Amino acid sequence: MHAIDIGRIRAETKGCKYVVHFNNAGSSLMPDPVADVVLEHLELERKIGGYEALEQNVERLDGFYTSFAKFFNCESAEIAYVENATRAWDMAFYSIPFRPGDRIITTKTEYVSNYLSFLQMTKRSGVVIDVAPNDDSGQVSLQGLEEMISDQTKLISITHVPTHQGLVNPVEEIGRIANKYKILYLLDACQSTGQIPIDVRKIGCDLLSATGRKFLRGPRGTGVLYVKNSITETLEPPFIDLKSATWYEKNKYKMRPDAKRFENWERYVAGQIGLARAVEYALEIGVEAIWLRVRALGAQLRQRLNQLDKISTHDIGSELSGIVTFSKENESAESIMKRLSRSRINTDVARVTSAQLDMGERNLSEVVRASVHYFNTETEIDRFCEVLTS
Ligand SMILES: Cc1ncc(COP(=O)(O)O)c(C=O)c1O
Repeated sequence: MHAIDIGRIRAETKGCKYVVHFNNAGSSLMPDPVADVVLEHLELERKIGGYEALEQNVERLDGFYTSFAKFFNCESAEIAYVENATRAWDMAFYSIPFRPGDRIITTKTEYVSNYLSFLQMTKRSGVVIDVAPNDDSGQVSLQGLEEMISDQTKLISITHVPTHQGLVNPVEEIGRIANKYKILYLLDACQSTGQIPIDVRKIGCDLLSATGRKFLRGPRGTGVLYVKNSITETLEPPFIDLKSATWYEKNKYKMRPDAKRFENWERYVAGQIGLARAVEYALEIGVEAIWLRVRALGAQLRQRLNQLDKISTHDIGSELSGIVTFSKENESAESIMKRLSRSRINTDVARVTSAQLDMGERNLSEVVRASVHYFNTETEIDRFCEVLTS
């Protein structure tokens, strides 16, 4: 593994000149090589027309599938381009034929929109939600999760890294349990993709969703879905169109056999090209090296915050990511975020309405979320702590 050339990376990240960006879990700073291909394609569309521009960039679009296949350790046919992580996850979830009494096992840190879909499915199809308990470290208890499995368990749905705190869920261990009982395993890897290496074969998931704009540093309005080959033809997406299916006779249609059955025909082509470039960029830097640095910077920031008067951090679990959450006595999270922003330091606020089961149980109504990436520096952490305590 080679070391990351931070100087070069920062030189080709325009945003580093303007802001201290600790909002990578919101939307990261695009590197110039990514922004350039997006702008080039938009310019081409402007000059010659959208369909004609696409014709000239077919290879780059094909590269999206091969690059993600390399990135996730899967086959190109297992990759679909979707407009964001929520829709990617939805396309997977709503294609599962739930029946009354079917059970879904999840954790206390499941992403808000996923949990809303479970709640809707309880009304629509009579499914039951089983929330696995935590272990002493605060992450999901593997034993507790396994004990919840019954003949009715139809799905295990896990969020790898939650949106509202630093925890990293033990997804490979959960994969072993899901595979042992032959239960469908859906992984929300929206916050982990780009900061943690993702190997779908090692994890053992059947379906995985991710977004472009966060730790992958791609354009906004882009996402990806992985669907394991062996299950693709067992799932019919909730919406279909002329891309996902062929109308081959007056009253007959046939679904595509690959993961593209989850795609739309119309898409943000410049965004897809940009996301393909972002994946290549991450591969060039090295995903293991990225994770080492993100984890170290996250730990450093957490440690520094814990040394400050009146500040408490709120990340729990045995493994922690680059997402760092904290609060300060007598100052609201919103006020801290705005104050940092006036000094051109970007963070975000996570609220209990995004994490009822986790933040609700811990009596946290809101926390500041500072999320670091590999292009951030120790000097930026110094500056962050300085402004925070001023
Ligand atoms: C864990 C998790 N899953 C899913 C999403 C949704 O991603 P998108 O906004 O791309 O739909 C987010 C966004 O913050 C997230 O943090």
